[in-house]
Amino acid sequence: MSIAILTSGGDCAGMNPAIKKFVDYCFDRGAQPYLIYDGLEGLIDGTIKKAKHSDVAGIIHEGGTRLRSSRSKRFFDYEYRKRAYENLQSLGIDKLVILGGDGSFRALKQFYDDFGVSFVGIPSTIDNDIFGTDYCLGVDTALNMIRWATDAVRDTSASFKRGCVIETMGRNCGYLALVSAVTCGAEVCVIPELEYDLQSLCVKLRKQLDEGRKYIVAVVTEGTKKTDALVKWLEDEVGIETRATILGHIQRGGNPTVYDRLMATEFVIHAVDRLIQQKSNDGLVIVYADAKFKFISIDYVNSRKFEIKEELLSLAAKMVK
Ligand code: F6P
Repeated sequence: MSIAILTSGGDCAGMNPAIKKFVDYCFDRGAQPYLIYDGLEGLIDGTIKKAKHSDVAGIIHEGGTRLRSSRSKRFFDYEYRKRAYENLQSLGIDKLVILGGDGSFRALKQFYDDFGVSFVGIPSTIDNDIFGTDYCLGVDTALNMIRWATDAVRDTSASFKRGCVIETMGRNCGYLALVSAVTCGAEVCVIPELEYDLQSLCVKLRKQLDEGRKYIVAVVTEGTKKTDALVKWLEDEVGIETRATILGHIQRGGNPTVYDRLMATEFVIHAVDRLIQQKSNDGLVIVYADAKFKFISIDYVNSRKFEIKEELLSLAAKMVK
C-alpha cells in the first residue's frame, strides 16, 4: 500500500514532527510512504518522492514544513485536479494524508468527489478555526510565541507607563487573541466573537491609571481591523501613550512545543491506521474533541463554522467592559 502526505495552506509548527512520524510509522506498518512537495501545487506538478527515513531525519524540532506549502488556485480547476490524479495513479498512490486548514480540506473533498481518492485530513492551522475539533496542530506553539512576544512588549510598556496593542493573526477567528489575552493578563481583548464596551472600559482603566497602573495591554485579532482605532482610543480617551505591535508571521514559526509534537504523533498514527484498515474509500478528518480523537466526515467539517466555546469566551468578561 502506498500513502502520500502533503502540507497545504498556512504552515504551522507541528507539521515537521507529523511528517517524520508519518514516514516512520508507514514503514512500521508495512506501507510505502510518499512525500508531496509544495502542497496542492506539487500534487499538480508531480513533485512527489518515494520517502526514505533519511528524508525526515532530524526535523522533529523544526518549525514550518520541510515539504513546503502553497495556496493553490489551479486546484480549483478540474483539468489541474485531473493532472494531479494522474500523477498519483502513475505512482500507485491511492491514499493521502493532508495537513492543512478548512480551505485545503474543501479542495481535497472536491478531489475525492472527482476521483474517489481516500484521504484523512489533520487539522493544522494556528487559527484553530476548524469546525469539529477543539485543537488544531500548531496552535500551541503559536500561542507560546505570542506569550513570549507579549511578555517582552509588556516589559518595555511598563518601563514607560505606556499602553500596547498587540495584534494577533487568526483571520476572523478570535481564538488566538482570546487565549493570549487571558494567559498574558491583558486588560482589553477585542475579537469578533465578543461585544465590547469602550466607554465602561475607559472609566475602569482611567481609575486604575490614577491608582498607579503602569501599563495597559490590549490584544486584538487582525480580522477586526481595530488596531489603529484602539491605539487612538487608549491615547485620546484613556489617556496613556500607546504603541501597536503587529506580531505577524513570527506567530507561524518557532520550534514546535512538546504538546504540538505529541499531538502530531497521535494524529498521524490514527490517520495512517485508518487508511490502512479502511474497506472502502472515504474523505475523513481526524479531530480532537472533548479530550478524544475521532474521525468525522469531511462533509460534516465543512458544514458549519467553528465557534469558540462559551466557557472560554467568558474568561475575557473583564476585558470587554
Ligand atoms: O491561516 C493562517 C494565517 O497565518 C492567518 O492567521 C493569516 O491571516 C494568514 O495565514 C496569513 O497568510 P499569508 O502567510 O499568506 O500572508
